[in-house]
Amino acid sequence: MALSFASILLGSSLILQASGTPLPTSKCCNLLDAEFRGGEKVVYPQTSEYEVLNTYFAPTSQQTPSCIFTPSDTSDISRAIKLFTRHSCKFAIRSGGHHYNAGWASIDNGILLSLSNLNKVVYNPSSNSVFVGSGNRWRKVYDIVEPHGVTVVGAQNSDVGVGGFLVNGGISYLADQYGWAVDNVRDFEVVTAEGRVLHANRYENKELFRAFKGGSSNFGVVTGFTLDTVKSNPVNSAYVGFPASSYDAFINAAYQYCLKGEDPKSQILFISFLSVKNGAFSVENAASLIYTDVMDLSNPPKVLAPFMDGTIPSSGAQVMGRNGTLGSHGHFLAEIQKPGGRTTRQTISILPDARLLKQFQSIWIKTAEEYKNVEGFKADLLFQPIGKKWIVAGNAKGGNSMGLTEPVIILWVQPHWTSAMDDETMADFATRVITLFEKVAKDAKKLSNFEYLNYAGPKQSLMAGYGTESIRRLQSVKRQYDPRNVFGTLLPGGPKVPGLY
Ligand SMILES: Cc1cc2nc3c(=O)[nH]c(=O)nc-3n(C[C@H](O)[C@H](O)[C@H](O)COP(=O)(O)OP(=O)(O)OC[C@H]3O[C@@H](n4cnc5c(N)ncnc54)[C@H](O)[C@@H]3O)c2cc1C
Ligand SMILES: *[C@@H]1O[C@H](CO)[C@@H](O)[C@H](O)[C@H]1NC(C)=O
Repeated sequence: MALSFASILLGSSLILQASGTPLPTSKCCNLLDAEFRGGEKVVYPQTSEYEVLNTYFAPTSQQTPSCIFTPSDTSDISRAIKLFTRHSCKFAIRSGGHHYNAGWASIDNGILLSLSNLNKVVYNPSSNSVFVGSGNRWRKVYDIVEPHGVTVVGAQNSDVGVGGFLVNGGISYLADQYGWAVDNVRDFEVVTAEGRVLHANRYENKELFRAFKGGSSNFGVVTGFTLDTVKSNPVNSAYVGFPASSYDAFINAAYQYCLKGEDPKSQILFISFLSVKNGAFSVENAASLIYTDVMDLSNPPKVLAPFMDGTIPSSGAQVMGRNGTLGSHGHFLAEIQKPGGRTTRQTISILPDARLLKQFQSIWIKTAEEYKNVEGFKADLLFQPIGKKWIVAGNAKGGNSMGLTEPVIILWVQPHWTSAMDDETMADFATRVITLFEKVAKDAKKLSNFEYLNYAGPKQSLMAGYGTESIRRLQSVKRQYDPRNVFGTLLPGGPKVPGLY
């Protein structure tokens, strides 16, 4: 039976809203305090612990929760979720706090459920897996497994949180070999809306297992992930800058790479940096090259060669890591990508097209003109391909809910600025750029609806881009595991399965 997208969006009557009159949040905090007698698990404003737990990678994503709950384990979370549903208490789930969208892993007038104490990492060599508590950062996981000659399909920067990165997909350097990071989850340990603890894997709760692979915070709190471990090969990387005069050649080569960058050990992130110098824009283009195996710098693998052998005039190459690991590389990135700056991010995906990539660059610079007097203005435009091997690798592991069937290029814009007074202006800049990109991509019939959740802005259509088949499955999982839509109404932030309201 073919359902139109509209009927999927409208066929929503089965889901009931979580009912009951909501209690004021302060009452919810008091109840939580009473439930967890002793009080040290409930943290209130104006304490140093609150300040620490309420710090985010980007200050722009911070909000002011009425209290912060710091569970020690899954059973604490189960009790808390039961209390939240019984009294209609609003909450947000936070793992590493790296997402840029305010209100996703943060909340005003609600309870912040901080997973930071769920930080167990247990390597199990006999099953080639590692259990990772969802409050971890990738750093600890790499540090524990890599001495054994294995690694995990985790984040590029090792300070990124495990929970949000995984439930929203997760892009690692190993994507073309193993798919999305979340494709490599063997088991999700979950607390459901009813406070039940269950496991989702290829044998139990199979549909939930698939739903969580890209389903974000719609189905429960993930308290732990069992991940496949994979062989740790040497990681080599280089960073090559290209002057504005090389732009066309750079984009042509980038397009070729996106089209048939089929050496699964390579990965390239294409970046344009825009900054203001003496009132004028300066643009620097760069390719961040990764090879997840031994690489001879003077004779690089074929797919990387055009960026390294002088074919495109470059402004210099910098070797970043030689024969490292995902962990050592991740630690290096964590050193140079410092937290604390105001920023936002928005994304779009397109079918590969060189002309569009060039158009985007000029739209981006032209739109930025109006904002260049904003204090501390800087902006990055990045893109990378999601190729066939990546998608196939994910399907081989059972598939996910993100619905990608053909290669796309994902792009994201990321402005930076100094003052909180400019937050709205700069959010508006990102929205305008993406809206213009969407229009030209649509006109060229090259717009993909996919929006990668970890790079998505607050006002995007998000999961709608997963496509009708995936959405229908997600709706059915939602009816089964969260029929009262607790993770839609009591958890106000984050992407929602469309068609349920
Ligand atoms: C410096 C930096 C480097 C980055 N590098 C990469 C990269 O290499 N690859 C990549 O793909 N992305 C990268 N990102 C983006 C990153 O994947 C997202 O910001 C991601 O959401 C971060 O995960 P977190 O646990 O810190 O998220 P949080 O900000 O804590 O949470 C993000 C979202 O996930 C939900 N969530 C978190 N934990 C759970 C859980 N246990 N159960 C249910 N829902 C949950 C939250 O409610 C929220 O909606 C990077 C970001 C930064 C700032
Ligand atoms: C990297 O490892 C390879 C294979 O073990 C070795 O031949 C090469 O010399 C190493 N390179 C560096 C810079 O250490």
